[in-house]
Amino acid sequence: MSKIRPFVKWAGGKRQIIDKLISYAPKKFNKYYEPFIGGGAFLFELEPKTAVINDYNTELINVYKCFSDESKYKKVLSLLDEYEEKHCKEFYYEIRNIDRDKDTYNNLSNIEKATRTIYLNKSCFNGLYRVNSKNEFNVPFNQKKKVNTYDKDNIVAINKYLNNNQITILNVDFEHAVNDAKKGDFIYFDPPYDSDSDTFTSYTDNGFNKEEQVRLSKLFKKLDKKGCYVMLSNHNTKLINELYKDYNIYVIEAKRNINANGAGRGKIEEVIITNY
Ligand SMILES: C[S@@+](CC[C@H](N)C(=O)[O-])C[C@H]1O[C@@H](n2cnc3c(N)ncnc32)[C@H](O)[C@@H]1O
Repeated sequence: MSKIRPFVKWAGGKRQIIDKLISYAPKKFNKYYEPFIGGGAFLFELEPKTAVINDYNTELINVYKCFSDESKYKKVLSLLDEYEEKHCKEFYYEIRNIDRDKDTYNNLSNIEKATRTIYLNKSCFNGLYRVNSKNEFNVPFNQKKKVNTYDKDNIVAINKYLNNNQITILNVDFEHAVNDAKKGDFIYFDPPYDSDSDTFTSYTDNGFNKEEQVRLSKLFKKLDKKGCYVMLSNHNTKLINELYKDYNIYVIEAKRNINANGAGRGKIEEVIITNY
């Protein structure tokens, strides 16, 4: 059977380095935790039977929740068929701008919200997810005449996977997502990237600043002490090397297609860090 693939294009998506991640993962573990799930490339590759997946992004998590429910995912797909028919620049902006009016937006059902999230992801420039300070999605149209928003077999497989296993889907801060992790569990952290070129020390474009990287490294240590297997990926920066100097740091090359600031195409060094 072919592998499940992510249902969105997501900044920092891990498809490019999936083989490396698999090779550094522990061979045996109990429960799997992925507190920054994003597109879920690694989860879908591993297909663990017991897992906790989480992301801060409410729109994204709503899609996972709809896809875990058989009647909801079917409704999302049929609505997506309608959107594909109507697809054009005007329609894109009509759907995108629904969140400019909070009442209209809040009245959308979770099915309509999930449909909107997938449609925008597939029709926007580079599959970026970016909102302004008012939490309004502000990525421009990708100018393509046709859009293919989903692969039916893949979504059916995702639904089966999420449904037939014990997968808990959360929408909280990463620290809370691993509250229950125990000895023998495996946690994979794929946070927003650190960068050596940040000019500010307490602010980055993606909102995940250096203090957040420090907070995450403390959590890594705490889980290490508990006896969990912990793996983390990030850019090969000074700060990351400093924060994780007591652990195994493997440098790997990754090709990047999308990047939070749009400037980072090409080869970039990443690191995979493990405590085992
Ligand atoms: C690099 S992406 C993960 C990419 C993912 N592994 C993939 O394959 O697509 C980082 C994710 O962290 C999420 N995030 C940012 N801050 C967070 C926080 N404080 N707690 C939980 N998730 C957060 C973002 O919404 C984003 O989806």
